Amino acid sequence: MKIAIIAAVAKNGVIGRSTGEMPWHSSEEFRHFKSTTLGFPVIMGRKTFESLGKPLKGRLNIVLSRQENYDPGNEVKVMRSLQQAYDFCRDSNYEKIFVIGGGYIFPEGMKDADEMIISVMDFNAEGDVCFPEIKESEWKLASSEKRNGFEVFHYERRDS
Ligand SMILES: NC(=O)c1ccc[n+]([C@@H]2O[C@H](COP(=O)([O-])OP(=O)(O)OC[C@H]3O[C@@H](n4cnc5c(N)ncnc54)[C@H](OP(=O)(O)O)[C@@H]3O)[C@@H](O)[C@H]2O)c1
Repeated sequence: MKIAIIAAVAKNGVIGRSTGEMPWHSSEEFRHFKSTTLGFPVIMGRKTFESLGKPLKGRLNIVLSRQENYDPGNEVKVMRSLQQAYDFCRDSNYEKIFVIGGGYIFPEGMKDADEMIISVMDFNAEGDVCFPEIKESEWKLASSEKRNGFEVFHYERRDS
């Protein structure tokens, strides 16, 4: 099972705000996110799930929370750790899963991921949640593609 990270990152590294809201809205970037992740499980932190407001359609939504009684509804699976989510998806025979954020989840997910699909937006953003450093010693750039308002960088783990 392949583990992929997908994120949209402002030029200054910002991905969001700890108060919950996304600092920008890009329909085209969201379309890219949707078409890339459709059909695959998406794993996210509880705050990211709450900022979305509802489950992402056409994908198994797995929300990470340490709260004993957290209940976001029937359509969503709650897991206590990334490892538990990986084990569940592996047992369910998914060929690929996406770790979709936010700031608490990306650093841990990056340790396990085989690939990363990073949209770098054409602007800086205001926020206090940032994407971790992408170390050249660990990640090689496989491809990049310019889109309207952002550029998609596809990284592969050097040792995979
Ligand atoms: N630009 C992007 O690509 C992108 C992607 C995703 C999110 N975002 C933005 O990022 C912001 C939210 O990020 P955030 O860093 O504040 O929160 P987050 O990472 O989405 O969620 C944090 C919560 O997840 C749970 N959690 C974290 N690590 C866990 C672990 N190892 N095991 C189990 N549960 C764990 C905890 O929930 P409990 O408190 O319930 O225990 C924690 O409070 C929002 O602004 C969102 O819009 C941006």
